[in-house]
Amino acid sequence: MPETELTGQPRKRFVRFRLFASVSIVVVFGAAGSARGAAPSLREQAARIGIQVGAAVNPAHFSEPPYALTLAREFNLVEPENVMKWPATEPARGLFNFEAADAVVAFAERHRMKVRGHNLVWSVHNPAWLTQGQFTPQQLSAILHNHILREVGHYAGRVFAWDVVNEAFDARGNLKHSIWYDQPGIGLAGGGSAYIERVFRWARAADPKALLFYNDYDVEGLNAKSDAIYAMVKDFKARGVPIDGVGLQMHIFNFDTHNLSSLPANMARFAALGVQVHITEMDVAIPIRTDGRPANLPDLRRQAEIYRQVAASCVAQPACTGFQTWGVTDRYSWMPAATKGRAGAGLLFDQDYAAKPAYRAVFDVFSNAPARSKR
Ligand code: XIL
Repeated sequence: MPETELTGQPRKRFVRFRLFASVSIVVVFGAAGSARGAAPSLREQAARIGIQVGAAVNPAHFSEPPYALTLAREFNLVEPENVMKWPATEPARGLFNFEAADAVVAFAERHRMKVRGHNLVWSVHNPAWLTQGQFTPQQLSAILHNHILREVGHYAGRVFAWDVVNEAFDARGNLKHSIWYDQPGIGLAGGGSAYIERVFRWARAADPKALLFYNDYDVEGLNAKSDAIYAMVKDFKARGVPIDGVGLQMHIFNFDTHNLSSLPANMARFAALGVQVHITEMDVAIPIRTDGRPANLPDLRRQAEIYRQVAASCVAQPACTGFQTWGVTDRYSWMPAATKGRAGAGLLFDQDYAAKPAYRAVFDVFSNAPARSKR
């Protein structure tokens, strides 16, 4: 993916002039010209307090100057939205393709950002050759082990944290049926989290230095699902199974019903087990018009308050070391598709890359927080 010359220059700043309602141009100034009067960035505020602030990205957009510039200027962490998943990295059995994911890692390195890897084991979004291959548990075990060795090995030393297992529990706290667990599974069907334990051990062996996370949705507060994850992590820590963190996805589709009041208590109990917590995929849906823009402007303020609350909870919990949104800009977000066009506009930057009230809220929380030492 060719990046523009502009984006190869991380020190340059851009200023966006709005000409008409939806027309904007990007002007890039050299570092000297930008230093005066350039607003501090979110990543500067986050770095000061020892938090990684990130966004899920699609490298296909790196050639779009405002995308690359906003990403490099405001974030110090990236996670590929899709290009490290199975369909991208192992499109045919034993055939690996890291081209798109390498572009993300290269971008991150050019701009002094860290990379979260996402993900190695998930029940959905797997290639047809895998799901329809009629493999035996022994074959699946070998396929998965090889996949982890190849992918984690390829990025050893360059991906600092992996979502090793994604979304393995259902809302009641039971393990989901999946190709990896029991359909037919990798040989540990019916064994509870034994299959998860095995893949965490494989991931540790593939890169002993990478942080290993379990990642899930609707587990922000105290509930049956987060209880099950807590019990698993507690058991893993007690028995020396390698796990370093829990990812709370934080997709909020309805802020009237999404209960965040027990988020601090939930983070605290994971912290007490000695694992880190990352907010991994935050977005806060609001009703949108057919062009994807917010339907009701007051929603932007309510959305900002949700962001403020989550950012404040993270800042207040020393074990919360990462705060990431599921995308850079409302221009490119999975939310409209996930809600059949009803909701979206859930990120920190609007479709024209203008900072939203939510950005200001997170920025204020970070900039008002006392510095804390890096873990
Ligand atoms: C989503 C992507 O955003 C979409 O583009 C893709 O079609 C499906 O996956 N939880 C996760 C992410 O862990 O990987 C999902 O990403 C969103 C829900």
